[in-house]
Formats: sequence, structure tokens, C-alpha cells
Amino acid sequence: MKHIAVLTSGGDAPGMNAAIRAVVRTGLYHGLTVTGVVAGYEGLINGDFRQMNSSSVGNIIGRGGTVLKTARSKRFMEADGRRNAIENLRKLGVEGLVVIGGDGSFRGADILASEFPELRVVGIPGTIDNDLVGTDFTIGYDTAINTVVEAVDNIRDTASSHNRLFFVEVMGRDAGLIALRSGIAVGAEAILIPETKTHVDRLITQLERGWKRQKSGHIIIVAEGDDAGGAFQIADMVQKKFDKLETKVVVLGHIQRGGNPSCMDRVLATRLGYEAVEALINGQNRVMVGQISGKVAYTPLTNAVKHIMDVNDTMLLMAEIMAL
Ligand code: F6P
Repeated sequence: MKHIAVLTSGGDAPGMNAAIRAVVRTGLYHGLTVTGVVAGYEGLINGDFRQMNSSSVGNIIGRGGTVLKTARSKRFMEADGRRNAIENLRKLGVEGLVVIGGDGSFRGADILASEFPELRVVGIPGTIDNDLVGTDFTIGYDTAINTVVEAVDNIRDTASSHNRLFFVEVMGRDAGLIALRSGIAVGAEAILIPETKTHVDRLITQLERGWKRQKSGHIIIVAEGDDAGGAFQIADMVQKKFDKLETKVVVLGHIQRGGNPSCMDRVLATRLGYEAVEALINGQNRVMVGQISGKVAYTPLTNAVKHIMDVNDTMLLMAEIMAL
């Protein structure tokens, strides 16, 4: 293998830059030509390429976002778009591609590899959602949950001062893992996630109980994809039957996607970036490189994207007990 390319795709995640840096420097260490693709699959289709050297990735390990830019490419879902991408990669002589992204990006990577068998493709899990199979943590998750914790700690101060009820919506269209872990860390009174059914009446009983024992301030963490709706909708439903506490809604939104990556994310990204290049050189193809119990693990891209719906029951029970 002489030439590899790297791209970031889908929602950005803190630590993507650290992963790009690791891919580029490991590639250069092995004497490879390394090309950066601008704006994910859009860049592959448009032929928007940058030759990378060691300085192209200088001083980026601590920066959020992605210096290579990212996109959710509709054109790449079409056969025509992918044909252009393959032509561009062929012209350039790229033999290995590293895709840093989440489930949608890996689906695209796997189709590309099936249509272009001379190309080897390796994925690096980069998403704040932590919803991929084959890694304990995805790059960006640790930073995002710490961002949530910092924000909700601030909300807790004002919630207690006014004895108010706050519904805080966090990201996770299909996955409640941001909500679950950050909710435990902030001592949320309830955590509502898409993986479990939300019972508004049960939530109201919990709130009544807290109100009776004069809890100062209540925080409900709502994953944006919860089955009962977003934070505004759920707050509305609750207010209709429980009006003892003044209610506020906060949607944290994209604040969770930015910011300097945590130490955990920088180290994870560096390790997976390094391992992705080693994997390509060693002939791996159509796999995601992850880390399970401290060890590097390879998971076929088609399995990595299988959505995790079985959240840890003990974590859920623990969260409930802590809110009693
Ligand atoms: O996949 C990461 C994520 O941040 C999800 O948690 C969220 O639902 C989605 O991306 C938002 O995407 P966009 O920024 O494209 O609206």
C-alpha cells in the first residue's frame, strides 16, 4: 500500500482532529502518501483533495470540530455520486480509505468498498452518540457528556434557588446514551431515552414524591429522540397534570458537539487513528477499529452500525434509585 486518504463524515465530534492527525502521522511514518478529503463524501465526489504532511495536522489535537470539514452527503447515497467518487479515487491512486464518522458514514463506506473492490476501507468511530457496536466508547462521547454535565450543573444551581422543574434536552436522535450517562452524573430526577418507554404518569408520580419531600429543584434529562417527544412536548404533557412547580425547558443542542476534546477523547482518537492505518497496511478491509476493555477490536462495518437498543438495565435502575 502506497497511498491512503482520510475523511470525516456525518456530525462532527470532538476528537476527530486528533484522529486525523494520528492517521496522517502514522501514514507518513510508514512512507505512505496521505490525502485529506474535504467535507467527507462530498469531497470525494467533487475531487476536493489535499495532500497532507506533518505540519498540516500541527496544533490540532486539542481543537474541536474537524479541519477536514464534514457533511451529510445526499449525493453519495446515489449510484451516480459514488461513481464520481470512485473515479476520483482511482485517478489519484488511493488504495486505502479511512472514514471517521458514525453509522451513516459507515453504511456509505461499506457500499463504496463493495462497489470498488481494489479499495480497502477502515472506519474510526467518531460520533458523540456512542451508538456503535464494536467499541466501548466512540470518539467525542466523553467530551459531549462532560459538556452536558457542566451545563446541567449550572442549571441545577438556578433550579434549586427557585425550586423549579427543568426539562433539559440532550442530543441523541436514536440513542439515549448521552442522556443516560450524563443524567446519572448530574443526579437527574429522571432520564428519558428512546430505548425505553416513557410513562408520563409515572414521571408525574416521581415529581409528586420529590415535591412532597420538598426537593429543591428537579432536573429531567430528555434524549431528543425519546418516544414521548422532545423536552417541550413532554414538559407540556406533564404541566397539564402537575402544576406545583414552575417549569422551564432548555435544549442544549449543538453546544454538545463542539469544544476542545477531553483527554480521554484525544488519547482514544490517537490510538484508533494509529490502529486504522496499521489495519489498512495489514490487509484489513470493511471493518471499524474500536477499543473494547482496553484492547483494539475490529468489527465488520455492517455489524458496527447495528443500533444498540439494549441499554444497561443496571445503569437505569441505579439512576432511578439515586433519584429516590
Ligand atoms: O449523530 C450526532 C448527532 O449530534 C445526533 O445526536 C443528533 O441527533 C444529530 O447529530 C444532529 O445532526 P445535525 O447537526 O445534522 O442536525
